[in-house]
Amino acid sequence: MTTGDGRMPATPQRRTPSCSPATSESAAGPADDIVLDLRDVHRTHGSGPAAVHALRGVSLAVRPGELIAVMGPSGSGKSTLLTLAGGLDSPTAGEVHVEGQPLHALDRRGLARLRRRRIGYIFQNLNLIGSLTAVENVALPLELDGSRVRTARRLALDALTEVGLTELGDRFPDQLSGGQQQRVAIARALVGQRRLVLADEPTGALDSQTGEAVLRLLRRRVDAGAAGVLVTHEARHAAWADRVVFLRDGVAVDSTAPLAGVEALLSGSGR
Ligand SMILES: Nc1ncnc2c1ncn2[C@@H]1O[C@H](COP(=O)(O)OP(=O)(O)OP(=O)(O)O)[C@@H](O)[C@H]1O
Ligand SMILES: [Mg+2]
Repeated sequence: MTTGDGRMPATPQRRTPSCSPATSESAAGPADDIVLDLRDVHRTHGSGPAAVHALRGVSLAVRPGELIAVMGPSGSGKSTLLTLAGGLDSPTAGEVHVEGQPLHALDRRGLARLRRRRIGYIFQNLNLIGSLTAVENVALPLELDGSRVRTARRLALDALTEVGLTELGDRFPDQLSGGQQQRVAIARALVGQRRLVLADEPTGALDSQTGEAVLRLLRRRVDAGAAGVLVTHEARHAAWADRVVFLRDGVAVDSTAPLAGVEALLSGSGR
C-alpha cells in the first residue's frame, strides 16, 4: 500500500511495514512509534504429550496507520495471537509490548487500565453483556475508566452512530440481530482513544454490505493513527490491510502485501 492511494497517511513518515522484532530499531529510541510489538512469542497450552503449541515464535511489529490481516486455517493460532496482543493471555515465552510498555511488567491494574484505555478488542464471540443495553455496553469501558456517565453515554452514542445503530442504543443484545450485535461490539472497541484495535473475524455475522462498512470503519480508524490487527478468513477482507500475515500451526509462514488494492474494492472491481 503506498501513500499515493488517496488515503491520508496517518503519520508524516509512514514506514514500511515490518514483520521483524523491533529490537533493532534506530537510535531514535526503542521502537518509539511501534504500537504493537510481538517478540518471538510462544503460547503452549498444557504440558507433556498433551501440550498444544498454539504459537511457536511469532514476531510482529505494527505501527500507527497500519492494518495487518492475519489469515490461516482453523486452529493455526490466530485468536491466540490476538489474545496475547490484547493482554488477555500471556505468552509462555517471548514478549508483548504495547505502545512501548512490556505487558509482562505491568501489574493487574496497570494491564487492565491499558486494555480499557488503549486497546479495542472485537471478540470472535462478541462478549456483549446481556443485562446492559447497546449504549451501556459501549459506554462500559469508559465508565470503568472513570468517565462521567453522561460523557460516556454521549461518546457511546457517537460510536453507535459510526456503526449505523443510532436508533438502537436502548435495546438489549437479545433484541438485536447477530449483525447488529456485531456492530455494537465494534462500537465498543472503537469508543474513546484506542490506539490498538484488535478484531477477531469482525465480519463473521454480517452480510457483505455491512461487513464492508465495518472494514471501512476499521480502516478509517487506522488511517486516523491507530494500529489494527484483523483476523479474517476472507481474502477480500484481507485486501483492506496493508499487509497479510499467514499463520500455519502456530508459525507465521508468510507475510505479503495485500491481495488486492483497497481502491479496487472500492470501485467494485476487486470482488
Ligand atoms: N485454552 C486452551 N487449551 C488448550 N488448547 C487451546 C486453548 N485455546 C486454544 N487452544 C488450541 O490452540 C490452537 C490455536 O487455537 P486458536 O483459537 O488460536 O485458533 P484459530 O486460528 O483462531 O482458529 P479458528 O479459525 O477456528 O478461530 C488450537 O489447536 C486450539 O485447539
Ligand atoms: Mg479464532
